Amino acid sequence: MVTLTMDGKKVEAEAGTTLLEVARRISIPIPTLCYHPDLTPYGSCRLCAVEVIHNGESRLVTACNFPVRQEIDVKTHSKPVLRARRVLAELLLARCPGVKVIQDLATELGVKTNRFVTRDESNDCILCGLCTRTCHEIVGADAISFTERGITRQVNTPFRIDSDTCVACGACEYACPTGAIKMELETMRKWRTSEAGTLRYCRYMRMGLIDFMVCANGYQCWRCEVDQAMEDRFDVHPAFAVKPALAKRPIAIDDFTFIPGFHYRGHIWVEPLHALVRLGADDFASKLIGADDIQLPPPGERIDSGLPFVRMTSGDKEAELSAPMGGTVVRLNPDIPHNPSLIEMDPYGRGWLMVLKPDDLELLSGLLHGKWAKDWFSADVRRFYHWLKGETGEEGLPANGLPGTLDKTQWEKMINSFFPMK
Ligand code: FES
Repeated sequence: MVTLTMDGKKVEAEAGTTLLEVARRISIPIPTLCYHPDLTPYGSCRLCAVEVIHNGESRLVTACNFPVRQEIDVKTHSKPVLRARRVLAELLLARCPGVKVIQDLATELGVKTNRFVTRDESNDCILCGLCTRTCHEIVGADAISFTERGITRQVNTPFRIDSDTCVACGACEYACPTGAIKMELETMRKWRTSEAGTLRYCRYMRMGLIDFMVCANGYQCWRCEVDQAMEDRFDVHPAFAVKPALAKRPIAIDDFTFIPGFHYRGHIWVEPLHALVRLGADDFASKLIGADDIQLPPPGERIDSGLPFVRMTSGDKEAELSAPMGGTVVRLNPDIPHNPSLIEMDPYGRGWLMVLKPDDLELLSGLLHGKWAKDWFSADVRRFYHWLKGETGEEGLPANGLPGTLDKTQWEKMINSFFPMK
């Protein structure tokens, strides 16, 4: 925990928490336009500027992406802060003079005149990137992104042609603070003429929220009961509501499955559970090593980061995997001793290994997560196939399991190469 001062109040915050999160927790208002709690902070509108004073030196930073790391003094409404926010409001007003949310913000900040020139009265887009981040991080469609640079920068579909990956979810419109983006209606208009009969898949099916449904309303969703039910069911846009579940949905990478929402080190996954974490072997480890028998330290025992904490045995082969973080074992999966095959059958679910009280939850930030974890996992899968072909001539995972296929020397090479001790 780090102690900081915000507007004269002493506050405790976990290292890594952003200044904006701290301010919201203690009800200090800070204006934002490009921030959404479910998206990676982008820091483009600069409206959340605050003054940070450390060792007698003061500077303006953006609160939405400034992590608390040490004792600092933060002023959220000092003169330099308010001056900076007023200039930014003027600039935004010059860019998008007709946008209500910007007009209101400028009024709130006391901006009465504007010294900057307006180039395009009809422009509504402030390039906050909320729509593109939503499409990439929440929906996973990547139907829109930024194109061009400098003053011609804009949000567009790839090559400015109708996107094939847009699912008309409307999450980008929902996230847009100025009403600039209209992707949902454009795509539905296109489907109305291009899709026929049983290809008229419901947009919620395209979003992965329902299994199968053909649209009987010609994509006039405002007439649809399913659309109404979806709106009634969640307080937020359905795509945002299911994000935590989607983050835990396994994705296929060749013969293996992977969950980007967990944290990883050395093919052990870590799932935060408030002050505790749950650990398990990922699908790569469970398929390569197998699990006829598992040995784990008992509850109450310490495990140390980088040292062996689980022994997995398959026939006459065995391997030890290293702990991704240090801590005290709180609980073991009670089903594993009499059914170790759960690790292979359901590595991210019923095959979990243990619950740990970590020495420091901050250690999670040192593990791989999200895109980085997925890139690492994919690279290890490719490296493994290359290795396997070189050693055995096999093109994919052997049907009767890897441990039985490799001789002792190959097994040791494989363990040293893919599950090294730190
Ligand atoms: Fe922080 Fe936009 S909200 S820069």
